[in-house]
Amino acid sequence: MGSTSSIQFCRRNNKTFLRIFMILVLSCIPGLTNLCSNPSVTTPTDLLPSNPSDTLSSLDSLDLEGYISFNDVNNASKDFGNRYQLPPLAILHPRSVSDISTMMRHIVGSTSNLTVAARGHGHSLQGQALAHQGVVINMESLTSPGMKIHKGKQPYVDVSGGELWINILRETLNYGLSPKSWTDYLHLTVGGTLSNAGISGQAFKHGPQINNVYQLEIVTGKGEVVTCSEKRNSELFHSVLGGLGQFGIITRARISLGPAPHMVKWIRALYSDFSAFSRDQEHLISKKNAFDYVEGFVIINRTDILKNWRSSFTPNDSTKANQFKSDGKTLYCLEVVKYFNSEQANTINQEIKKLLSELSYIPSTLFSSEVPYIEFLDRVHNAETKLRAKGRITWCGQMLVRGEINRDIMS
Ligand SMILES: Cc1cc2nc3c(=O)[nH]c(=O)nc-3n(C[C@H](O)[C@H](O)[C@H](O)COP(=O)(O)OP(=O)(O)OC[C@H]3O[C@@H](n4cnc5c(N)ncnc54)[C@H](O)[C@@H]3O)c2cc1C
Ligand SMILES: *[C@@H]1O[C@H](CO)[C@@H](O)[C@H](O)[C@H]1NC(C)=O
Ligand SMILES: *[C@@H]1O[C@H](CO)[C@@H](O)[C@H](O)[C@H]1NC(C)=O
Ligand SMILES: *[C@@H]1O[C@H](CO)[C@@H](O)[C@H](O)[C@H]1NC(C)=O
Ligand SMILES: *[C@@H]1O[C@H](CO)[C@@H](O)[C@H](O)[C@H]1NC(C)=O
Repeated sequence: MGSTSSIQFCRRNNKTFLRIFMILVLSCIPGLTNLCSNPSVTTPTDLLPSNPSDTLSSLDSLDLEGYISFNDVNNASKDFGNRYQLPPLAILHPRSVSDISTMMRHIVGSTSNLTVAARGHGHSLQGQALAHQGVVINMESLTSPGMKIHKGKQPYVDVSGGELWINILRETLNYGLSPKSWTDYLHLTVGGTLSNAGISGQAFKHGPQINNVYQLEIVTGKGEVVTCSEKRNSELFHSVLGGLGQFGIITRARISLGPAPHMVKWIRALYSDFSAFSRDQEHLISKKNAFDYVEGFVIINRTDILKNWRSSFTPNDSTKANQFKSDGKTLYCLEVVKYFNSEQANTINQEIKKLLSELSYIPSTLFSSEVPYIEFLDRVHNAETKLRAKGRITWCGQMLVRGEINRDIMS
């Protein structure tokens, strides 16, 4: 399948996740300038398949419900990293699981050495979702059959591997339910994030997204359609989850759901001392019934950071917040969220006050906000939309959005 980088995530220790996540977030920031200022594209030197015209005609003769495109392959020749330009020979737009199975059987049975890669929303960075001179399977075409929500004691939703998480959120909210574990950005596919880990500020509590899957339907490298779970074909199940697309193609996933809150209290506060910051984070993720989301990010020499926050957050102490100087400092921002429903509106502030009293952030930098659950979860996209409207998205798009949000332009 596509080329890979081998990031391994430990699946058990939630604290480790938070640390890894922090490292990922932190490591993104110095890289930002480099990536943005140096958009060099690697030119491939790989050999082409020996007889492409035979390969093309054999692909063209497949009996499919969807279709294959050979011309318009540009969209599948790059990913979000934009560092590799590796055009495929063809893109499969599958309409059914059997289309994917047909393709895999064809490839494994031929002598052409074609590579194949599933492509979700193409937000990975290292050419993982690319198949140079091979076949890219455009998973977003595979939306049928639609989502099926099962209520009951252990609610879940059955979704296509090409479904976007934002659509799952919207649909499950109609039933008062929601997946439990998220990524920061929701316009990604189920197959794409389950091939990695799917980490955001809920991972300390529920594990990453790959810990919240009951069952998968996989098309294997030989084209077999296999259902797997913790109990059934468990080796395949555990290989595919976090498998970087190398162990089969996720065509359906059964994702665990929980009750969805109506609202969230969204809180930010700054630290100048990293040990105090990480100590507080560890305290919060170790404590029962504390916050529902814990993240953090680093802010380097940013003037007027708190002034920028004011467009979306309210300072606890406006006067002191005005006097705080962020210029020239490296600061660590704790970001926490507590979910609540309208009947808890009276008690939630007391609970939060108690939790905050155990922390040692800089008092004048405490900001909070109250927003609907969906608005909080879809925050990166909302910010992206605003930045796009201002023409402030460059080719490194989300990378910049993340940077901007963290520095915070959310007006
Ligand atoms: C700026 C930025 C911020 C990010 N923030 C986060 C974050 O907060 N948390 C987090 O967890 N991740 C984050 N990511 C990583 C992101 O979640 C992964 O790159 C994810 O794979 C993207 O999903 P996608 O649908 O775009 O997948 P793609 O990029 O299309 O595919 C990713 C990999 O999965 C494989 N794949 C895709 N679909 C399937 C399928 N159906 N079956 C099997 N394999 C498949 C592909 O072949 C490829 O190897 C971030 C990425 C960027 C660029
Ligand atoms: C390629 O991407 C562009 C922009 O997202 C889109 O308008 C176009 O329809 C895509 N082409 C194909 C063949 O998917
Ligand atoms: C496929 O790879 C094998 C082993 O590397 C090689 O012997 C064969 O010639 C290749 N076939 C084609 C059609 O490129
Ligand atoms: C908010 O500000 C007030 C007034 O400065 C202060 O008394 C209170 O302790 C602050 N609340 C928190 C949770 O820090
Ligand atoms: C912070 O940035 C300002 C300009 O934005 C610069 O003049 C100053 O030297 C920087 N300070 C540090 C400590 O990097």
